[in-house]
Amino acid sequence: MLKNKTIIVTGAASGIGSACVDELKRQRATVIGVDRVTIDADVDRYVTADLADPRSITAAQREIGPGIDGLCNIAGLPPTAPPDEVLAVNALGLIEFTLGMIERMTDGASIVNMSSMASAGWQRNVDAARDFIDNATFDNLGDMVKKYDAVAAQSYVFSKQIVCYWTVRNNHTWLSRRIRMNSVCPGPVETPILNDFIVTFGERAERSMAATERLGTPEDVVPAIAFLLSDSAQWIRGVNLPVDGGLAARQFEEQVG
Ligand code: NAI
Repeated sequence: MLKNKTIIVTGAASGIGSACVDELKRQRATVIGVDRVTIDADVDRYVTADLADPRSITAAQREIGPGIDGLCNIAGLPPTAPPDEVLAVNALGLIEFTLGMIERMTDGASIVNMSSMASAGWQRNVDAARDFIDNATFDNLGDMVKKYDAVAAQSYVFSKQIVCYWTVRNNHTWLSRRIRMNSVCPGPVETPILNDFIVTFGERAERSMAATERLGTPEDVVPAIAFLLSDSAQWIRGVNLPVDGGLAARQFEEQVG
């Protein structure tokens, strides 16, 4: 499905990003891996970048260059990291990296963002997400943390809510070039940072894990990403897709009784 497409995967060194590289290669895409650490996965090109650092983001965009058919924004930090760094990598870095890549994308390109089921209820926090998108800079993230009390688990929740709103808000932004953007929202997935979620979210994490038949694996998530990247998904734009073993449906049922 992805043959002859050139696709960027951020966070390609570990977990879901690494599994994504494997799946895209299996589908015969050319893969450019972006990460702050060395990538063992079988990428065609490796670009080092710290997505919390604007200069590093700009340098990576230049190094990657044009001809990009797909972008998977998978890099992320768990809520055990300092809150300003969580907002930098998961939200602002994702936005800035993507915006700088648009001019380097081919017409019809597809962007897939990594959100999370932790974003649940993002629709009720749109004002804060809008303020962040319109006003956050790499220099004022500490202020944003204070303004929205985005500490510990809330730093991660807010970062993923911002991604969901940004995805929906840009549903038609690049329509003239047929560039689409969607997000995936996984439930708990067995990767090196799963324990960070359990430690930070406590009972909420335990409830989420109990509500699914089993934990997800990176291989459960990447087919959805590959589909959204493909031309088969051309009419899908501005969607936040749960890939969660039914967790979102369970939570909805609980809310409505
Ligand atoms: P992981 O820790 O295995 O992979 C994250 C990758 O992002 C690593 O390779 C890391 O080096 C990279 N990264 C972190 N900070 C970076 C920076 N400043 N610049 C460049 N790269 C950076 O974690 P996992 O679980 O594979 O997470 C991938 C994405 O999936 C994250 O956005 C995470 O929030 C999201 N997610 C994970 C879930 C889980 O249960 N594991 C559930 C829902 C979403």
